[in-house]
Amino acid sequence: MEALVLERKGELSIREINLPTEVGPHDVKIKIQTVGICGSDVHYYEYGAIGPFVVKEPMVLGHEASGTVVEVGHAVKHHKPGDRVCMEPGIPDPNSRASRLGIYNLDPAVRFWATPPIHGCLTPYVIHPAAYTFKLPDNVSFAEGAMVEPLAVGMHAAVKAKIKPGDLAVVMGAGPIGIVTSLAAIAGGCSQVVITDVQQPKLDLAATLGPIRPVNVAKENLRGVIDELTDGWGADLVFEASGAPAAIQAAPEALCPGGRIVLVGLPIRPVSLDIVALSAKEASIETVFRYAHVYPRALALMGSGKIDLKPLISRTFDFRDSIEAFEFAVKMPPDCIKAQIQVISA
Ligand SMILES: NC(=O)c1ccc[n+]([C@@H]2O[C@H](COP(=O)([O-])OP(=O)(O)OC[C@H]3O[C@@H](n4cnc5c(N)ncnc54)[C@H](O)[C@@H]3O)[C@@H](O)[C@H]2O)c1
Ligand SMILES: [Zn+2]
Repeated sequence: MEALVLERKGELSIREINLPTEVGPHDVKIKIQTVGICGSDVHYYEYGAIGPFVVKEPMVLGHEASGTVVEVGHAVKHHKPGDRVCMEPGIPDPNSRASRLGIYNLDPAVRFWATPPIHGCLTPYVIHPAAYTFKLPDNVSFAEGAMVEPLAVGMHAAVKAKIKPGDLAVVMGAGPIGIVTSLAAIAGGCSQVVITDVQQPKLDLAATLGPIRPVNVAKENLRGVIDELTDGWGADLVFEASGAPAAIQAAPEALCPGGRIVLVGLPIRPVSLDIVALSAKEASIETVFRYAHVYPRALALMGSGKIDLKPLISRTFDFRDSIEAFEFAVKMPPDCIKAQIQVISA
């Protein structure tokens, strides 16, 4: 099958490659419609590795996908050909201890699209377990369907934050993950999100998406803004979604006594945290690794209109132009949030 293949660091090609074709009893075959380009795809392209995951042989990229079911395995009851769907890209071993505990995202044996050595989904057809395939509401487009994967990260962060109605949250970073985390936090009950970044165009876009107050930390003092909004008390929640060491280290400062920090961003190198500053506030700290059990909730929020991801889709490329799409994503202009590839024209 034809696919966008990362041959090695810095080298992409669109070519034929052997991919699974057999539809197992619990699988569905999906005609891929749209695939979003994620920071991790770009990182593998530029550097050939993320931490311990190293691209050692050619690998198909892409993990943020939507499409149409074209065939179902004989044991599949809840899907039929023609269903418009999106897919969770990480498939755990269902018998693993992590899966049995419900923390299937933490299964050490999880097979995640476009994480070496597992092929991704930038190819016209994929075979996928039906259990990790989710119907799109009628009013959710394929392009929005391919945004469910990043939204799921924000949803998982919102769940871990144990939001109480009316909470004020800070979200650090206005990239795709910071913005979807903000939208999930508002949908989850936050009265307002104060979002930070150093790139003004991203903040300007974020400010149009709901009760979101932008703060450019290159020019404005975050704690000063929070003091004004909370009479000096501090933010109930701080979501760190930039991965920037300076932001991670500033997270405790914006927090109220007894508040909660959710670390979403993954810094490239280890970062130290001021334990005394955290202890003085009895701050709770949560971390997230991808997501579990949130796709149906994300889709419900999109279907009801509570979360609209259309404004985040900045550019769409044809599958034929996938390499150009990756070149664009490497040098993404600051007013762009998400680039997508349309694999099969609508
Ligand atoms: N935990 C998980 O499961 C998970 C999943 C996906 C992504 N991530 C991580 O989330 C982070 C964000 O992902 P993304 O795709 O949105 O990345 P991104 O690079 O597009 O966005 C990061 C944003 O942070 C901004 N930033 C830089 N320094 C800052 C500072 N000091 N204060 C505030 N903002 C600052 C950047 O300008 C950028 O807009 C990354 O670290 C990524 O690895 C984690
Ligand atoms: Zn992604």
